[in-house]
Amino acid sequence: MARDLSCTFTGLRFPNPFLLSSAPPTESESNILRAFEAGWGGVVTKTIGMHPVVNVKGPKTKFLRAQPETGALSMNKGRAGALHSSWNWELISDKPLDWWLPRIERIKKAFPDRILIASIMAGSGSESELDHWRTLTRECQKAGADGLELNLSCPHMDRPDMGSNIGKDEALCSFVTQVVKEVATVPVWAKLTPATGDIVAEAGAVFRGGADAVVSSNTFPSLPLVDPDTLEFECNVDGFVSPGGLGGPAILPLSIANMASMTRAFPDKSFSGIGGISEFRDALNYFLLGCGTVQVCTAAMLDHAVGPNVIRRLIEGASAFLDRTPFFETLADCRGHLRDRVVAHSKIRRPDDSDYQGGYEPQEGYAAPDADNR
Ligand SMILES: Cc1cc2nc3c(=O)[nH]c(=O)nc-3n(C[C@H](O)[C@H](O)[C@H](O)COP(=O)(O)O)c2cc1C
Repeated sequence: MARDLSCTFTGLRFPNPFLLSSAPPTESESNILRAFEAGWGGVVTKTIGMHPVVNVKGPKTKFLRAQPETGALSMNKGRAGALHSSWNWELISDKPLDWWLPRIERIKKAFPDRILIASIMAGSGSESELDHWRTLTRECQKAGADGLELNLSCPHMDRPDMGSNIGKDEALCSFVTQVVKEVATVPVWAKLTPATGDIVAEAGAVFRGGADAVVSSNTFPSLPLVDPDTLEFECNVDGFVSPGGLGGPAILPLSIANMASMTRAFPDKSFSGIGGISEFRDALNYFLLGCGTVQVCTAAMLDHAVGPNVIRRLIEGASAFLDRTPFFETLADCRGHLRDRVVAHSKIRRPDDSDYQGGYEPQEGYAAPDADNR
């Protein structure tokens, strides 16, 4: 039975909680219109910036597959085998703000009931860069964007004051969010990078800056593998490579671990989950850990560029799940159901609790180390 999957997230009403994330599937007006026709509840545009963008020569994205006979991972051995991940070194949109604005307006007119979030990015090292954030915010919301997603997570930036270099710095994260919030009239989401020691610190920082939601995450820092026959990286330009981002199935367990630590730290805040989702069972992990919406990139890229079959399966999968589960009436009911089941290692039962000292030597004459401080 088709279920009502509509939900409210950061004050916005979504027909379903499934979004295309900021990436090639959302890089053009025609893609976004096709995505909405296919049934996506929302889309986040490919990130819009103020600086000219020139991508590397050759492929910007490759897909790693586990070879059927050996399980070995490769980007260059054909399409047989199970998908492991996407690897990309693509920059943000190469189209300027002026190109995007009339398109945002037209898309919203064509699909007023769908949610269109503009992903934006600028630097943080000077007043003129902060003005870029303000301009992007004002212009995108004037064109009709329902919300903004701050790209604090692009892993391919040379500038030390942009992308994931902001996302690794608590003070900058908080400050940039605050600058945007001062001029924003629509909800502001902050997309964080997993390339940091403790993502909970950055989540706290953007919430202090006023973010309405945390989005996690962007791709994980990674290199293409070396081909043992040619001794070249499987993806390179003139033999050279630089770290790119890993997405797709391989990052699902990594990304939900980050998500769990943030939703446990901020149980009353809003989170949108990204990483490795292609089926409803993948998305369910994020909902059960406390997310209100989820976003998809790699799986959609591999399904007619905008994921018409992916969104159909997500919607059908969600309805079938609600039909058979005795636990929940709506998807919103599952939000955070398993959040408190992720605990410190010392809280996991041992065969005999009295034997375990949390890795510390018991000291003669003193009580056992306090489990809460381990
Ligand atoms: C080719 C490519 C380009 C991307 N471009 C952007 C971008 O412009 N802005 C952004 O915030 N994330 C970008 N991403 C990251 C995705 O939105 C998403 O966070 C990531 O791929 C993880 O999701 P997945 O496992 O479903 O692929 C890009 C990802 C890929 C593969």
